[in-house]
Amino acid sequence: MKERRFFDEDEQSVAEKSSIRELEKKNAELYKDLFIEAIDGIVFWNDEGVIDANESACKIFESSIEDLKGRRIFEFVIDHDGRYDKVVKTLRTEGSVRDELLYIMPNGQKKYLEFTSKLNAVDGNHMTIFRNVTERYEMEQQLRERENKFRNVFEGALEGFILWRDDNEEIVDVNPSAAKMLDVIKEDLVGQSFLSALENLGVTKEKADEYLDTFKRAGQSEGAISFSLKSGVKKHFEFSMKHNVFSDLNLITFKDITEKLQLEEELRKSDTLNVIGELAAGIAHEIRNPMTALKGFIQLLEPTIKDKHSLYYDVIINELNRIDSIINEFLILAKPQAVQYSERDIVQIMRETVDLLGAQAVLHNIQICMDYEYNIPNLFCEPNQLKKVFINLIKNAIEVMPEGGKITISINQLKGEKIHISIKDEGFGMTPEKLQKLGEPFYTTKEKGTGLGLMVSFRIIAEHQGVIEVESEEGLGTIFHIYLPLQQGGKD
Ligand SMILES: Nc1ncnc2c1ncn2[C@@H]1O[C@H](COP(=O)(O)OP(=O)(O)OP(=O)(O)O)[C@@H](O)[C@H]1O
Ligand SMILES: [Mg+2]
Repeated sequence: MKERRFFDEDEQSVAEKSSIRELEKKNAELYKDLFIEAIDGIVFWNDEGVIDANESACKIFESSIEDLKGRRIFEFVIDHDGRYDKVVKTLRTEGSVRDELLYIMPNGQKKYLEFTSKLNAVDGNHMTIFRNVTERYEMEQQLRERENKFRNVFEGALEGFILWRDDNEEIVDVNPSAAKMLDVIKEDLVGQSFLSALENLGVTKEKADEYLDTFKRAGQSEGAISFSLKSGVKKHFEFSMKHNVFSDLNLITFKDITEKLQLEEELRKSDTLNVIGELAAGIAHEIRNPMTALKGFIQLLEPTIKDKHSLYYDVIINELNRIDSIINEFLILAKPQAVQYSERDIVQIMRETVDLLGAQAVLHNIQICMDYEYNIPNLFCEPNQLKKVFINLIKNAIEVMPEGGKITISINQLKGEKIHISIKDEGFGMTPEKLQKLGEPFYTTKEKGTGLGLMVSFRIIAEHQGVIEVESEEGLGTIFHIYLPLQQGGKD
């Protein structure tokens, strides 16, 4: 039994050996085929240089096999940043390396090659497999350049840019101009959903939905939007939203048009103002002379008619005086009056004005409450002009409360050397459209109004380098705020 088994094993081992040889032969052929046919360039080398290279390697290196043999592959490398040294070091320590380098071929062509090198890969020789990735590299380079360009535009643009993802609407980037215009820091917005960011900024949900609906339907949307920043300042923006500007990113660009709108509005008003001014100067000149004659002759007639017709005489004199004062009012518009600026106590000026209007207020069942801060410094101003402003504003306040009510006047000093005067009524207020029209010449809603009171007031305050702001809510009342600087250019 034992012998027999031995014989069996021996026979089996002969068969095995021949099949291994067969396999080895096949492997060698396969290996040769792979080497020859491979799309990748395969180079065998040792310390003396290249021993063998396949077709693809010859193509990549733009050389014949004869040219390549004996050369060292590193002679082809263009090393700008010490990357080659790193590759060699890794190969020595690890025994293999995979990387990409720029090569220059004998015909001058530059190629980016991705390679894997292995020491002692076959029969003690080293092997490197190359693949030409120039095209991919150039595409990546272009993409990087495009991204860089976009980044530069994004970061440096004067317009505000916000990028958000199309799928979950998450904001991914905000440029510095956007953050500045919206008075937020970038981190406040990044990570929020676009819609909730809009709502947090004060855009109403209806408005936001309306724009986003159009945007989703049409792939883009543009328009103008207004809201108050967290500082309370109201801002107007023009915007344009674009769908999918980059891979799944939407972009909104916007600019602040608040100043532009204000300027347009002022221009519109001052245009009318100039026309009125010229007209006023003409009328005043033409009417003043006959008026002087009329007044003079009427006064001459006084002794003869006063006794018999004293009532008529008084009416005539009163009406003539009224015409005179209207002409004077017009003249303020036409050219600056001979104004006399001096250091005055603004509280005192207000007190005198309120005294002047006291009787009229009582008549209309109106209570005037005063809330003045102590120690308000003297203001460099033209007291009669300021009185005119206060009279106009208080008269308006009285006129909007036909059933009576309360007028609250306050004067206080603000930081930054400013005086703040406010006149508040409980009248019927104004719609935003009416508010817009304030200060336009001849804008009146009163039967007997001239619509010049506020225009004159705005003009006077502007001459004092101050501003008037109006807050009004329909049905609740109106507050006129006057801000006057303590230090004025006109002082010197
Ligand atoms: N306190 C206020 N509340 C509501 N509306 C006001 C107020 N002040 C002014 N207005 C509106 O502004 C308009 C213009 O005011 P403005 O003082 O310039 O002219 P007026 O009062 O109509 O005429 P006048 O001043 O010559 O009597 C008023 O007609 C009124 O509609
Ligand atoms: Mg008025």
